[in-house]
Amino acid sequence: MREGDSLLANSQRPTANSLYPSSYRAGDVTIAPALVLAPMAGLTDHTFRRVVRRCGGVGLVVSEILSSEGLVRGTMRAEEYLRIGADEHPVALQLSGADPEHMAEAARRCAGEGADLVDINMGCPAHKVTKGACGVALLRDTRQAAAVAGAVVRAVGVPVTVKMRLGWSEREITFIEVARALVDVGVAGLTLHGRTKEQGYSGRADWNRIAELKAAVPVPVVGNGDVTTPEAALDLWRATGCDGVMVGRAAVKNPWIFRQIEDLRTAGSYGTPTMTDRVDLIEDHFRDLLILGPPGLALHRMKTFLGKYTVGMPGSAALRRSLEGYREPEAMLDGFREWAGAVKSEK
Ligand SMILES: Cc1cc2nc3c(=O)[nH]c(=O)nc-3n(C[C@H](O)[C@H](O)[C@H](O)COP(=O)(O)O)c2cc1C
Repeated sequence: MREGDSLLANSQRPTANSLYPSSYRAGDVTIAPALVLAPMAGLTDHTFRRVVRRCGGVGLVVSEILSSEGLVRGTMRAEEYLRIGADEHPVALQLSGADPEHMAEAARRCAGEGADLVDINMGCPAHKVTKGACGVALLRDTRQAAAVAGAVVRAVGVPVTVKMRLGWSEREITFIEVARALVDVGVAGLTLHGRTKEQGYSGRADWNRIAELKAAVPVPVVGNGDVTTPEAALDLWRATGCDGVMVGRAAVKNPWIFRQIEDLRTAGSYGTPTMTDRVDLIEDHFRDLLILGPPGLALHRMKTFLGKYTVGMPGSAALRRSLEGYREPEAMLDGFREWAGAVKSEK
């Protein structure tokens, strides 16, 4: 299922097109369609963002979380993490950090590498991030959150956005207060994942809170959390009036989901990729991973994605077992090609 193919309808739902936004603007950047690939550590690298772009329907792709300290101190493989392809734009690079000066310096670097937006992480619940007062810990300190965001806004010419959770816990719901302070220092857009830090990924994302944020701030609000199907994306729009919809986990299993949402929004129906589409996409992605970086990283990411992409495919459990022992990414790609050839010829 490539861009421009005719699609076979497998889902019919009446849509009132005007209910759902076709685009939104963060500062001077237009996001069209109003659909965003979520930042996901270990997943949304340059190669996966290109996969999603090739599948179509997405308006903005976001990098995985990048540590400003790692960038400033030169302790991370910056050339790999900051890599942006010509076919990815618009793209946001996401930074974490609590030191305004270091965040400003890291943001300048991101903008210099071609990021169309710089996004600040105020949602990551991982201990290694929050112990440095970064990520979701910034939602406990409105003044520090505003100082970090203000420094980044002043440092770069591109729009700055923030992705946040509801707060630390149900007893500490701070997103509205922090959001207002961020808007005051010039943040051009906000994304809200409707869970607290304490919830992690359990329970349901609270979409009512996304509607509350939309009503409270003058900048675009992107809703996030538990969009698992194209229908759910439209439900989120209807329930909250948000400007854009962000999809994370569902896009890793189904990178065509943005295209499907867009087709559902505009035409009332969407198609599903064929088995050939799926194996071709995996092969393309793996080829890109070989080019991206160190063989160890390529191998690790191939295994990660194989586990996600092939769920539900016939014989996929046996394939994953057979590829587990590979130590070289080239050999793994060859092993995959052999399996893919057999799958295609069975059809
Ligand atoms: C494996 C994984 C890695 C993630 N990494 C990040 C990250 O680097 N930055 C961030 O802001 N959110 C991160 N998130 C959170 C997602 O962006 C998103 O908010 C969350 O998964 C809810 O959306 P979903 O229900 O569509 O998956 C991550 C989530 C997962 C599952």
